[in-house]
Amino acid sequence: MTRKIAILSGDGIGPEIIAEAVKVIHCLQREYDFQVELEEALVGGAAIDATGGPLPQKTRELCQQADAVLLGAVGGTKWESLDIAIRPEKGLLDLRAEMALFSNLRPAILYPQLASASTLKPEVVSGLNIMIVRELTGGIYFGQPRGIRTLANGEREGFNTLVYAESEIRRIGRSAFEIAMKRGKKVCSVDKANVLECTELWREVMTELAKDYPEVSLSHMYVDNAAMQLVRAPKQFDVIVTTNMFGDILSDCAAMLTGSIGMLPSASLDANGKGMYEPIHGSAPDIAGQDSANPIATILSVAMMLRYSLNETKLADKIEKAVNTVLDEKLRTADIHTEGTRKVGTEEMGDAIVAAIMRDMWGDAGGGASTDSQCARSSGLSNELD
Ligand code: IPM
Ligand code: MG
Repeated sequence: MTRKIAILSGDGIGPEIIAEAVKVIHCLQREYDFQVELEEALVGGAAIDATGGPLPQKTRELCQQADAVLLGAVGGTKWESLDIAIRPEKGLLDLRAEMALFSNLRPAILYPQLASASTLKPEVVSGLNIMIVRELTGGIYFGQPRGIRTLANGEREGFNTLVYAESEIRRIGRSAFEIAMKRGKKVCSVDKANVLECTELWREVMTELAKDYPEVSLSHMYVDNAAMQLVRAPKQFDVIVTTNMFGDILSDCAAMLTGSIGMLPSASLDANGKGMYEPIHGSAPDIAGQDSANPIATILSVAMMLRYSLNETKLADKIEKAVNTVLDEKLRTADIHTEGTRKVGTEEMGDAIVAAIMRDMWGDAGGGASTDSQCARSSGLSNELD
């Protein structure tokens, strides 16, 4: 059965990192009889420039019919002056909402090879493995009313609404408890229940839900404390479940514990496991086009896609193993480069991961030798995608 993956490169470093992820997919296609069709579409600033809006109808349709979506990043200074309702980020938010991708999984895992790349002491972060479960289609990101209005005295006022229905809290809570059952059986629900009624309800619903999961221990933490605990003693966490905005902030913070935000993949899932996969970092326009971005978060997002939407666990393992191998080989992009390691560009990192997958398949000699270089040379978004 051929599955379809929608490829949305987006803006800034998006096209470069997606090209490396596509190389990896092509390699799996060639070597492991992984049947998949890739189709590209526009999103974000690239879509605004080409069509006038950040989420063209064609992209919407493709994402609805695809089995999974792989996205690079959206946004950039070029589009910052546009109205918030038509900015690149709106394309991403609309896609999340339209596809009902309410459950956003952001694993923060420290690769032992990168312990010294973290700004925290190695003993604080070594062995770190946190899963942040972020609610993605509700809360203050989507609440109505919202806007900027002019008051009677002529002063302008900006306003947004933090709102969660019980059912929205319950379904993201279930995601978190189910995941915890397969991990360390600990859920920490992060809220601001001492100030915000909306998250007082959040806490109540999480507490009720915990009764269905007697094996899981549930704790609650205010978001300010959670931010502090993440940098003080991050290994106390197993699964963190939180609102859309708190999850946005805490996941960036957790990312840096692992050495670089360039390492963190994500999965955004609907109720049936269909999903969109993207690195958690942004479009980094300052380094776009310089062959210096880290493609690992995007490549690991492909692994998450194989695991969560395409039921190809073994292939997911292969990718994760290959990432481990290149880190063992001391290859580092600029963001994770430290003394005693070799600095490589985006493409070289992608090629090295492809080569490691090939070596895993063929060993160091024999049939691998020729196919290896052939595979490593494949130039990302090739004609197969047109
Ligand atoms: C993320 C990003 C997005 C968000 C932006 C680009 C809209 O920061 O995925 O974390 O805020 O959700
Ligand atoms: Mg973010």
